[in-house]
Amino acid sequence: MFRTKAGALAWISALWASGSTGWAEIRETGVWWLPRNVSNFGHEIDFIFYVILWLTGITAVLVFGTMIYFMVRYRQRAGVGAIHSHGNNTLEIVWTTIPVFIFLALAIYGNEMWARMRMEVPPADALQVAIVGEQFGWNLRYPGPDGKLAKMDSHKITKDNPFGIDPADPDGKDDFTTYNDMVIPVGKAVRLHLGSKDVIHSFYVPEFRLYQDMVPGRVYDFVWFKTDATGHFQLACNQLCGQGHYKMFGKLGVVTPAEYDAWAKGKAPAAVTTSTAAAPENVSVANR
Ligand code: CUA
Repeated sequence: MFRTKAGALAWISALWASGSTGWAEIRETGVWWLPRNVSNFGHEIDFIFYVILWLTGITAVLVFGTMIYFMVRYRQRAGVGAIHSHGNNTLEIVWTTIPVFIFLALAIYGNEMWARMRMEVPPADALQVAIVGEQFGWNLRYPGPDGKLAKMDSHKITKDNPFGIDPADPDGKDDFTTYNDMVIPVGKAVRLHLGSKDVIHSFYVPEFRLYQDMVPGRVYDFVWFKTDATGHFQLACNQLCGQGHYKMFGKLGVVTPAEYDAWAKGKAPAAVTTSTAAAPENVSVANR
């Protein structure tokens, strides 16, 4: 492929440089394995991940081991004739039946897990957080002291009304908004209301093992989770949503309930306007 060593070296360097930008993101843990998990559903997702990894890993070793053994053992040799085989029905049935049951078990287990994650009703006392993606950032809306979030309507979402709320909605009077700044209390159920202003974005937090696309024209209000450890993570958009996709990310802090209360208390209600333009105090970096 390469005529000179220098050419090969340049190619490898270019590959390394481009790859290294992908590795430059902040990670609490090593880049070689899964980031740590802090959500309730994440433990089950990791469990099935490891089950599949071991199943396929062992199968790969067995299959390749047998293949290499046969290649060596039955290689062409002078004076040794080929053995003609017409197959073995018992073997065929056995190695078809076993995978069928393994795949069925994985499918049923995975389906049941998915149903629990996305079809179970979120706890009634869950903290409601509205998140609307736009090119290129995250609009967040939190309930004020009343604990109620203004009702979102995807048909009302406009440039100036990213959350698609009715300005007269009494539940929204004390809501506050932030931009690219998400903070949630540890241990409390959080229910998301996900929407989009323009194109498809994706809410993805590897540490939550949570991934949900946000399609314009819809509000997804069935996603919920609970965290079991504090930490600071990235809220990075995971759907190629335009030229600025790379810079669509915010901060995500999982903090103690006391820290959350202090953070929320410092926020001014966004009731007067439905605009996303956050006042300077709304992008404070308290507790960071
Ligand atoms: Cu929004 Cu990528």
